[in-house]
Amino acid sequence: MLDHLKIATKTNHSSVEKVLVQKLKNLSSQEEYANLLFQLYGFYFELEKKVHSIIDNTLLPDMSKRVHVANLHTDLINLNHSAAITTVNNYPDTISSISEAIGVLYVIEGSTLGGQFIAGMLKKQLPTLTDSQINYFLSYGENTMKMWKQFKISIENTTVVLDEESALNAAQNTFKALEIWLQTKQ
Ligand code: HEM
Repeated sequence: MLDHLKIATKTNHSSVEKVLVQKLKNLSSQEEYANLLFQLYGFYFELEKKVHSIIDNTLLPDMSKRVHVANLHTDLINLNHSAAITTVNNYPDTISSISEAIGVLYVIEGSTLGGQFIAGMLKKQLPTLTDSQINYFLSYGENTMKMWKQFKISIENTTVVLDEESALNAAQNTFKALEIWLQTKQ
């Protein structure tokens, strides 16, 4: 299923990567960077909660470590930006089954791989940024690949019966929802 997820979302990934790279390249101040983090915070706040309410430690033993919104919150505070949600993301309401939640989690956990590159880009572009303001993109740091491999192993070995089509649709929809969110909410 993981190979199929990768193939099915290849064009979605390219598309959202393009949008995000453009936004990152245009950042010229810490304030603009904080605004981008705030956008991501608005997107993931309810989505992460929803995924964690459906997938527990029986499916992924390290599920409690897979939290990213807390990092966004820390970065926003360290950038003196508000962390009060202003626009509610309704996309999480469409997620209800374990298979759908796995599709969403695939996108969230996979994004930590790109995060490593983004953290490097940001440090070059905004040299005043400190690691305490890049927690979200640094994510698991040197453990990122290990966490990704563990995610894949857990999914491959689970005894929970997953519906592949639901997972693929949810993964594609998550990419699309993020892309729209990044392009429309300021
Ligand atoms: C500047 C933006 C981004 C860059 C440069 C980037 C780059 C990468 C790279 C280098 C990989 C590893 C490919 C591999 O080893 O096979 C990857 C994988 C992945 N990325 Fe991104 N990424 C970006 C944004 C995102 C975003 C915003 C998301 C989702 C919200 C995302 C989701 C994923 C997923 C799910 C994978 C795993 C693919 C797989 O092996 O199944 N990426 N990305």
